[in-house]
Amino acid sequence: MKWTAAARYAEVPVDENWDSIADWYAALVRDGSPMHTFSRDILLSVLPLTLTGAVVLDIGCGEGLITRAVAARGAAALGVDPTSALIEHAQAAERAQPIGAIYRQDDGSTLSSVGNATIDWVTAALSLNNIPDLDSAIESIKRVLKPEGRIAFTVPHPCFNAPRGGSVTINGSPRRLIGDYFAEGFWRLNEPQSVRRAGNYHRTIATYVNTLMNHGFALDVLAEPAPDDRVRATNPHRIGLPPFLLVRAAVTA
Ligand SMILES: C[S@@+](CC[C@H](N)C(=O)[O-])C[C@H]1O[C@@H](n2cnc3c(N)ncnc32)[C@H](O)[C@@H]1O
Repeated sequence: MKWTAAARYAEVPVDENWDSIADWYAALVRDGSPMHTFSRDILLSVLPLTLTGAVVLDIGCGEGLITRAVAARGAAALGVDPTSALIEHAQAAERAQPIGAIYRQDDGSTLSSVGNATIDWVTAALSLNNIPDLDSAIESIKRVLKPEGRIAFTVPHPCFNAPRGGSVTINGSPRRLIGDYFAEGFWRLNEPQSVRRAGNYHRTIATYVNTLMNHGFALDVLAEPAPDDRVRATNPHRIGLPPFLLVRAAVTA
């Protein structure tokens, strides 16, 4: 059997963060990044087709990919993100093509600009894994949701995006290399074209599910959607694996 390690560990400055990669990230998403488009589409698949009359809070909205999509379904859409450059990109898109989305700077772990029991749906696409304190984030989400409110989120699939994972080629086929699944906490990938050069927080599936349950949420969707054709074509090492974990949960207590 022949193994070839993929070149994933090129040196890049280790002080990258969301501010420093914001322009690059906005361009990536707006160029139609297959992974981000797929994350958006699977998240939208567990939201009502019509959100007219609903207030949707999009946490870690970035340049507004999800916020625009829920606004297009009729929601009163508010996107929050601590990264000022990304909020500026989102606001610029709203000015260029108004859809009624509102954006402001806020931290997902406190949501200090959002009132209690004011939100029908929280969306969080690939952002909970960027928040250092998941417990505070879920507590804040519970605070801002109305009694019948729900959260829907995606995170990079924890099994296949753990620290020190990677890709290898075995007998000519690209395969995903499992990393240190139990190593919860901050990690970054020193790869110039990876979003994860800004760093993010790895957590096990059990941590996500238990944190939700500890705050009185009941899961009604737990899914591992298979990659679509565009993801398979651009990320051959992900063929046969779910790129993201998709969760929907409702407030119960
Ligand atoms: C991978 S991007 C996802 C952006 C957007 N949801 C999308 O799907 O394109 C992760 C986002 O999490 C944001 N983020 C980082 N720290 C955060 C925090 N403490 N609270 C909320 N969002 C945060 C980043 O600024 C970035 O916009």
